[in-house]
Amino acid sequence: MKIMVIQGPNLNMLGVREQHIYGPVKLEQIHGGMKEFAGQNNVEIDFFQSNLEGEIVDKIQECYGEVDGIIINAAAYTHTSIAIRDAIAAVGIPTVEVHISNIHRREEFRKENMIAPVCASSIVGFGPFGYHLAMIGLIQVMNEVQAAKEAQANQAK
Ligand code: DQA
Repeated sequence: MKIMVIQGPNLNMLGVREQHIYGPVKLEQIHGGMKEFAGQNNVEIDFFQSNLEGEIVDKIQECYGEVDGIIINAAAYTHTSIAIRDAIAAVGIPTVEVHISNIHRREEFRKENMIAPVCASSIVGFGPFGYHLAMIGLIQVMNEVQAAKEAQANQAK
């Protein structure tokens, strides 16, 4: 099973940007922890970060037929991007969105969420640990999808 982790704009600045909100941990450290957990669970994992909306749409489309699950923090695009939402819906790959901060407790504009309705789940406000929780949840969802496919294949026999 394979997971793609997609990180949106300014997340390459973690550890530097607004530490009172996002903390001191860098993106590479988060990815290092995820890679370790993936290895322990026999899951392949890949990482992608972009500050550009179109590149994120391209990456989601590339996942089609290649990847079993997506973890995405669309960052500021969460609140604006119909294109990213449509891409997630188009590929139909189980997706979990993560937000390091609790977007519900911040500015009004962060309460608007274009991405959540097309995701299996949203994890917010747990800091970098949210990515770990997202992996646990996504592995469960991917196992369920796999089991359902196998059951269908057996019925067709
Ligand atoms: C964020 C929350 C967004 O509102 C913000 O624009 C980000 C990061 C988070 O992880 O808490 O860049 O997605």
